[in-house]
Amino acid sequence: MSEVGTKKSTGLSRRDFLKLMGAAGTGLAFAPFVPFGNFMPNPNQASLEKVPVILPDGTQANVNTYPINHAEVITYPATGDAALDAEAFRKWQFIRLPEELGGAKNDPSAFRAFSMICLHLWCLWKYWPDEGRKRGECPCHGSMYDPVSGTAYVGPASVQASPSNTLPKLTLEVDSDGLVFILPPKFNAQENGVIGYGRFA
Ligand code: FES
Repeated sequence: MSEVGTKKSTGLSRRDFLKLMGAAGTGLAFAPFVPFGNFMPNPNQASLEKVPVILPDGTQANVNTYPINHAEVITYPATGDAALDAEAFRKWQFIRLPEELGGAKNDPSAFRAFSMICLHLWCLWKYWPDEGRKRGECPCHGSMYDPVSGTAYVGPASVQASPSNTLPKLTLEVDSDGLVFILPPKFNAQENGVIGYGRFA
């Protein structure tokens, strides 16, 4: 009797132990994904509104003053919290194209805003305006991005299947004073793209 009781008790405790392990395993399995929700501009968390393009000097970008063949880092969506706003997933290259690619126009077609997260392994790429370059380059493994389309044409990002060869981009608007704004994006692969994943060109 007492032997049976012991067996029962052992069995129950083993099941409990397995249940606990299962719960712990589930927790661990999801743990790596938790931070993504915190730093990716998730449409459910961010208030996605039309906002001015604010340059690093604190002024709003204006087509009448922003240099041709030039790029600055902008933050979107900005929260006002310094730690959150420093996250790489909020950083975009705000590019005015070189003249030969249409950068002299005073309308949104002269500009691009691409996510700075390289689609290969998430290093930060940047635009190089130098003669003979005029493209986005990632310092980690040499991926190069077309500044007009945001599509990688050299390096490991260029051999990734669509949409993971084309950078997410923001939609821009210019008002009658030349001020540049970001329109509310739709962060899915068919529209503005998914940061760190890509966009169907
Ligand atoms: S992370 Fe950019 S090329 Fe590898």
